[in-house]
Amino acid sequence: MLLEIKNVCKSYKSLYGRTIREVLRNTSLSVREGEKVAITGPSGSGKTTLLNLAGTLDFPDQGEILYRGNTLSGMDMAGLASFRNRETGFVFQSHHLLPQLTLWENVLIPSLAARGDRKSVYDRAEGLLRETGLWDIRHQKPGELSGGECQRTAVVRALINRPSLVLADEPTGSLDGKNASMLISLLTRLSDRERTAMIVVTHSADVAAWMDTVYKLQDGCLYGDQEG
Ligand SMILES: Nc1ncnc2c1ncn2[C@@H]1O[C@H](COP(=O)(O)OP(=O)(O)OP(=O)(O)O)[C@@H](O)[C@H]1O
Ligand SMILES: [Mg+2]
Repeated sequence: MLLEIKNVCKSYKSLYGRTIREVLRNTSLSVREGEKVAITGPSGSGKTTLLNLAGTLDFPDQGEILYRGNTLSGMDMAGLASFRNRETGFVFQSHHLLPQLTLWENVLIPSLAARGDRKSVYDRAEGLLRETGLWDIRHQKPGELSGGECQRTAVVRALINRPSLVLADEPTGSLDGKNASMLISLLTRLSDRERTAMIVVTHSADVAAWMDTVYKLQDGCLYGDQEG
């Protein structure tokens, strides 16, 4: 298994430690290498919370998270930061590109912290930008791009370090139908080719249908295990 989330509980507490909201109750989720998983569920059900735990942006109150069989809980902050940079890529509903940088500079940001020679990073960026139809506009800034172009740029940025797991929170949430299907077909094509696993949070049945496995998060638990 690539990722194993085992019997995880997560609550959010008020300032004085009083529990105000129990979000995940004994939730478990396993993701194989290259597997594409959709998480659906009502607003406020904990989808973003689960994704943040999977990406070590937040930590469970109880339970364990294993990556290739190794527990993440023993790692210090520097270890986790390097793990996130090497192994994961994030795509959010809003692209989160830096407005003062060009598209080319934005997609290179995650590579700045990674080791490896610059030439191969530039070749990788060029290949992905050509493939996603962004090469000719690489010197433009996010303010000069369409919503779909910004989201495609965010996908390239997420993949630049060849992560083994992409975490996408409503990646098509701000796009119209045509751009949404273009984006999800791009994500799945690239992840299939590079055997990148994906967890995609989505409200869209169309997006979920592209995934191998679809789960629904409700009342703190994950249901369903339909092969897509
Ligand atoms: N930092 C926080 N502090 C307190 N409560 C939080 C925090 N983050 C989330 N919550 C609460 O936890 C619950 C789950 O939030 P989460 O963002 O994971 O839901 P979601 O399924 O992603 O919802 P949506 O579909 O609207 O994005 C919500 O009730 C939310 O208000
Ligand atoms: Mg959310």
